[in-house]
Amino acid sequence: MVTGIFEEKLSKIGKNLKSSLIRDLLKYAQIPGAISFGGGAPDPETFPSKELGEIAKEILENEYKFTLQYIPTEGDEELKEEFIKLLDRIYGITDVAKKNLLMTTGSQQALDILARIFLDEDSYVIVESPSYLGALNAFYVSFPKFIAIPLEKDGMDINYLEKVLKDLDEKGEIEKVKFIYTVPTFQNPAGVTMSLEKRKALIELAEKYDIIIVEDDPYGALYFDETPPDSLYKLAGKERVILLNTFSKILTPGLRIGVIIADENIISKAVMAKQSADLCSSGLTQRLAARFLKKYDLLDYLKSIRAVYKEKRDIMIEAMEEHLKPYGVTWNKPGGGLFIWIELPEGYDTMEMLDIAKEKLVFYIPGKAFLVDVEKSSTARLSFCLPPKEVIPEGIKRLAEVIEEYKKEKGL
Ligand SMILES: Cc1ncc(COP(=O)(O)O)c(C=O)c1O
Repeated sequence: MVTGIFEEKLSKIGKNLKSSLIRDLLKYAQIPGAISFGGGAPDPETFPSKELGEIAKEILENEYKFTLQYIPTEGDEELKEEFIKLLDRIYGITDVAKKNLLMTTGSQQALDILARIFLDEDSYVIVESPSYLGALNAFYVSFPKFIAIPLEKDGMDINYLEKVLKDLDEKGEIEKVKFIYTVPTFQNPAGVTMSLEKRKALIELAEKYDIIIVEDDPYGALYFDETPPDSLYKLAGKERVILLNTFSKILTPGLRIGVIIADENIISKAVMAKQSADLCSSGLTQRLAARFLKKYDLLDYLKSIRAVYKEKRDIMIEAMEEHLKPYGVTWNKPGGGLFIWIELPEGYDTMEMLDIAKEKLVFYIPGKAFLVDVEKSSTARLSFCLPPKEVIPEGIKRLAEVIEEYKKEKGL
């Protein structure tokens, strides 16, 4: 809490900054014996620590003039070369040159940069509801108006979006819509994937009303069953789409490497915005990632990561069938990614339920945290990535106990 003279001096942004519910919950999740389905942190057992350790030693000793120095804001050339190959191998994206890339400090920084180069107080940003909380927070700093489009089992409600755009166009406000932000594949928090038909329809609308699409794709490579539909970027190209990618979920978040893939004019603006934020991202971790990609086949490594998360997803769903279904809880079965979105029957407030969850030492993120302008919600996000697979059934059992106790308390 900032008090006295400091509080008076805070900027509009400073006054509005709030601690994120997810961060607060992470504290509780550290209590011994707690089982957390809260944060979206990857399973550390998937990190190639030995391989990265060996490379780190080598590049620190032999390439210290680069790895321990400031590097160009745009990023490590070697990593860019490797990343261009990776985009082709994973996504079949082939139209990217180095000038279309900016390496950022995680894709979280990419979101912050986009807010700074595109948004003003009178801007509109179209987001999915629910949406990735970190993006909402990053955009919020510029005080735009959010327009929330309901998310369905196969991606955002395109009819609703069309109506919104038509209304804004009729009111003469369409120019104020800066971009549509979407996580189309294995969405955070809802786990759903936008169908190919909806992807095409979204692009058509964006073209009709001349709006940029920001496609945030940290999870596309983490599919368990079938490969997801083509990315929006692949379908519509860099004239329409800004693609965000990250190494956080396919290698490790500790490297803090994200990537903006876009038209070169947008990249050069983004470079200027990044310069004033942090001059450059770490050359050490970028070279580490580049050398890992050169030495090992990331696609092979990804196979083992997918297997780990697929097993965890299946264990969680099986436990939910047994313990949560009897309470009328429903969910989607995600085809990849790290999250399952659950919905409890009407009358359950998952935010209020957290008090009981804290006693029972089980954690989840109430759906309200991801929804724009919603008072209460009976939804929640469960992540299956971090807890060891052996404890997942016990965590779900505890969640059922939380529901039982809340049900009794409220006479539901
Ligand atoms: C949709 C989405 N975008 C961006 C991020 C930020 O990731 P990072 O900054 O680690 O690349 C996350 C992290 O969970 C995410 O889920």
